[in-house]
Amino acid sequence: MSNTSQCRVCGGSVDEFFDFGRQPLSDAFLPLDADFEKEFFFRLAVGLCQECTMVQLMEEVPRDRMFHEEYPYVSSGSAYMREHFEGLAKRLLSTELTAEDPFVVELGCNDGVMLKAMAEAGVRHLGVEPSGGVADLAAAKGVRVRKSFFEESAAREIEAEDGRADVIYAANTLCHIPYMQSILAGVRALLKPTGVFVFEDPYLGDIVERSSFDQIYDEHFFFFTARSVQRMAELNGLELVDVERLTVHGGEVRYTLAPAGRRTPSDAVAELLRTERENKLAELATLQGFGASVLKIREDLVALLTRLREEGRTVVGYGATAKSATVTNLCGITPELVSFVCDTTPAKQGRLTPGTHIPVRTPEDFSATYPDYALLFAWNHAEEIMAKEQAFREAGGRWILYVPDVRIV
Ligand code: SAH
Ligand code: TYD
Ligand code: ZN
Repeated sequence: MSNTSQCRVCGGSVDEFFDFGRQPLSDAFLPLDADFEKEFFFRLAVGLCQECTMVQLMEEVPRDRMFHEEYPYVSSGSAYMREHFEGLAKRLLSTELTAEDPFVVELGCNDGVMLKAMAEAGVRHLGVEPSGGVADLAAAKGVRVRKSFFEESAAREIEAEDGRADVIYAANTLCHIPYMQSILAGVRALLKPTGVFVFEDPYLGDIVERSSFDQIYDEHFFFFTARSVQRMAELNGLELVDVERLTVHGGEVRYTLAPAGRRTPSDAVAELLRTERENKLAELATLQGFGASVLKIREDLVALLTRLREEGRTVVGYGATAKSATVTNLCGITPELVSFVCDTTPAKQGRLTPGTHIPVRTPEDFSATYPDYALLFAWNHAEEIMAKEQAFREAGGRWILYVPDVRIV
């Protein structure tokens, strides 16, 4: 029996290809005295649209449950990501923002990691950020923020107040938004005819190639490809004019859209479309194969953690990522297998991980008594973390990785 839903991009029929089962909100870290009976769960499952090939969740979580005053994720937690966004700001300043009095809008500006550079350069800007706590952090950096969800009505209000934008930018945000028609209508209303809409998100091609199934959780609603984004643009009066592969967050693509007919698409667009065809990325059989890899990883990871517990080894998690909610809940990883997870984010520390209730502690708790093994949930920051935790390895500690397969390094 196959499950279907209606595509949030084109209205076509979406065929389910993997079911992660009952999952909590990935960023809902619980206080120690929480009423566990009241914890929110939903069915996390993912499917492929037969018409436009957009990969998407089968069920949507109401946005206010995820993005609110207490939303804990802060973008500036990684030095590497800070550099990434500063580099992008510099590039935009010297390419798209060179006209007189340019205006840049960012959707999901979070703590201002990118717009800080725009504020410092004296460029007119606006961050649109519904999560109040992180929006306040941006404002404290001198960033101009509007505390609201971006959608068509917000776009029209911004246009009335500030005029049209040269650049609309969104990092790791567009894939969070199921109501895509409203977003793209808003982008059309707010963007200058000469402007561009630039967004970067985890790339389905990398997720399938690396079996990085933990990119799939409540907040990540869409999994883009050049093909699905091209179709999504076409349906909304826009055109895909450039793509750029990025290495951050385990592999992303930065897409550039322009009003239809305004710019000539780069060769990179045709090339990525060709690679996707060769890899049969938009085919159900490929995605079912991905599902089989997920089950294999679950089996291997549970077997490894169970064996280590039987041998009396200590295992601690590193990075209380949103991604880790998918891994721990799919695999049933509770404090019996992983005694705590360390994380630098103050709003996560002293709390319990969603669904599996593993305590979150500070990195200082990790280094106070090194465990035998550290399960690297923040594998997308492996280089940065392994470099700063060299003493752990020197003390005989080993890292456990689970994508693309389960390994001890
Ligand atoms: N751009 C940052 C933050 C990504 S987290 C980075 O790349 O690190 C996703 C952010 O999108 C959250 O801060 C969330 O509050 C915000 N968000 C969710 N829905 C949104 C919407 N409709 N409009 C604008 N921001 C939104
Ligand atoms: P990230 O992988 O960026 O995103 P997501 O939550 O969407 O999966 O999250 C990284 C987490 O790891 C974040 O909670 C901060 C934490 N972290 C550390 O504890 N130490 C570090 O050195 C880095 C880079 C991140
Ligand atoms: Zn579709």
